[in-house]
Amino acid sequence: MSALLELHGVGIRFGGLRAVDRLSFTVDKGQIVALIGPNGAGKTTVFNMITGVYRPTEGSIRFEGQDITARRPHLVAAAGIMRTFQTIRLFPEMSVLENVRAGCHLRVRQQWWQGLLSLPSQRREEAELAERAHEILRRLDLDRFAHDRAVSLPYGVQRRVELARTLAADPKMIILDEPAAGLNDNESAALSETIFGIRDSGITVLLVEHDMNVVMSVADKIVVINFGQKIAEGGPDDIRNDAQVIEAYLGRDDDEEEGVS
Ligand SMILES: Nc1ncnc2c1ncn2[C@@H]1O[C@H](COP(=O)(O)OP(=O)(O)OP(=O)(O)O)[C@@H](O)[C@H]1O
Ligand SMILES: [Mg+2]
Repeated sequence: MSALLELHGVGIRFGGLRAVDRLSFTVDKGQIVALIGPNGAGKTTVFNMITGVYRPTEGSIRFEGQDITARRPHLVAAAGIMRTFQTIRLFPEMSVLENVRAGCHLRVRQQWWQGLLSLPSQRREEAELAERAHEILRRLDLDRFAHDRAVSLPYGVQRRVELARTLAADPKMIILDEPAAGLNDNESAALSETIFGIRDSGITVLLVEHDMNVVMSVADKIVVINFGQKIAEGGPDDIRNDAQVIEAYLGRDDDEEEGVS
């Protein structure tokens, strides 16, 4: 099977800092891949390069065999890659349904001129989008919040709304930056189930996550980076027992309660 997403020798410098250095890995269609590493390792920077926010200073990125290196963010989205951010970015005053509907429009199928005329095809498309938004809300157990303002909801629910919004755009792949951050144990267990459900619906998943329970339970493959370089890659059991990974996590002197457990 050929890879859906391929990074070949990707790197970026910020001034003198090599934030990501000659990083290569692949994500196959239908896989759940986790990118992990200590704080500041370069994980979000990798996501920013894939989604066109940052331009790599070396290497190449391919999606479905097409070179998407340094493609603009809206074109990466149009190609079928949607993402969430490490900190929540919803329209706070809009309802849950409106937030998800906004996501539907990130990959429009209609031509620009169709929007100027009220063509039957356009009305049909609007009806389809509304139906899809409701279907996604049902799938993520958000339907009872459909008309609540996003900002009024508990944090864990807002996180689910973000996930719903990425799905609304009918992506081929979603990229999640710390989806379990700030969730309680029940919510993170539910998140793992949600991620499996998303994958089973045909969407490939790449995630950055510090919650090792989530990572170890969902990931088919784990890529570990430290100081921008790949130090290990393999299944959960390989990673759990990898001496370099243990060293990278335990050898730090900050006091975050993370670890490869
Ligand atoms: N725009 C930027 N300009 C300068 N340095 C940056 C920029 N973005 C990221 N960096 C630096 O690149 C390194 C990697 O940062 P990044 O945010 O990718 O880490 P991370 O692995 O996502 O960490 P965390 O787990 O804390 O989210 C850090 O040293 C960071 O300060
Ligand atoms: Mg980050």
